[in-house]
Amino acid sequence: MQTVQDAAALRAAIRGWRSQGQTVGFVPTMGNLHAGHHALIKLARARTDRVVASIFVNPTQFGPNEDFERYPRTLVQDQAGLAEHDCDLLFAPEVATLYPFGAQGSVSLRVPQLTETLEGAHRPGHFDGVATVVCKLFNLVQPDIAVFGQKDFQQLKVIERMVRDLSLPVKVMAAPTFRADDGLALSSRNQYLSVTERALAPQIYATLLQIRELMAKGHAWRVIEQAAAAKLTRAGFVPDYVAVRRAEDLSEPADDERSGLVALIAARLGQTRLIDNLLLD
Ligand code: PAJ
Repeated sequence: MQTVQDAAALRAAIRGWRSQGQTVGFVPTMGNLHAGHHALIKLARARTDRVVASIFVNPTQFGPNEDFERYPRTLVQDQAGLAEHDCDLLFAPEVATLYPFGAQGSVSLRVPQLTETLEGAHRPGHFDGVATVVCKLFNLVQPDIAVFGQKDFQQLKVIERMVRDLSLPVKVMAAPTFRADDGLALSSRNQYLSVTERALAPQIYATLLQIRELMAKGHAWRVIEQAAAAKLTRAGFVPDYVAVRRAEDLSEPADDERSGLVALIAARLGQTRLIDNLLLD
């Protein structure tokens, strides 16, 4: 597997494949790769002739008090994992390559409505940074398909909407959330957890499963949300939200609505913020 840092080298490699009529799949990441990321590579691998991954810890999607500086950077280890999973090319650019006018001087994309709730409400500007960097990456890689994890459900929806709204010629594919045996969704941030916190963390997924059960029994979603948040609080979490929403646009469902819904949780455990979600159908 080849690793390239600059845009010209990336374009040259992709041009070579394109001239042979090959299709390109793309998996954007921030690195510190785990089995969840590798599953995305596998999905792309099964769909396209060539697979490109990117590793870029994107400054514009981190808030001022978030973990940009201490976000784990493990390039050598990541390269080995990608090579093992048959990734053809890793694009690992410098900040100046993606932000030639600096993060402050950059064009910024905003996907309205969808980003005003849940993660967007708790992390102002986060999705502007995500949409902006993914659009820049799409312009550089020009993939046929791009794979995103359902783990970051709202992010997936934001990207889908951006692609549709801007008529970007890329097919967005969703990959299921990859979980540890105890149900905890794999995340680069899990390593911030203490041993005690790691033992508690699977309660987020357990809560999502309970929400699904209670919804199937016909309970009211507002009541379920409140009870679930209270339970997580008693267990030692500080929930940012526990929400049952329409999967399509994350709007609030009607009282008797039971199909096409998703439950989403964001909760802090000590210094670590965890998110997870579950489709309720
Ligand atoms: P990152 O958190 O590195 O995630 C990269 C991709 O892996 C995302 O599509 C994410 O949803 C997916 N992913 C992470 N954990 C997963 C899991 N347990 N199961 C399945 N998929 C999982 O998300 C980002 O980076 C950034 O916001 C990015 C899109 C790269 C833009 O900077």
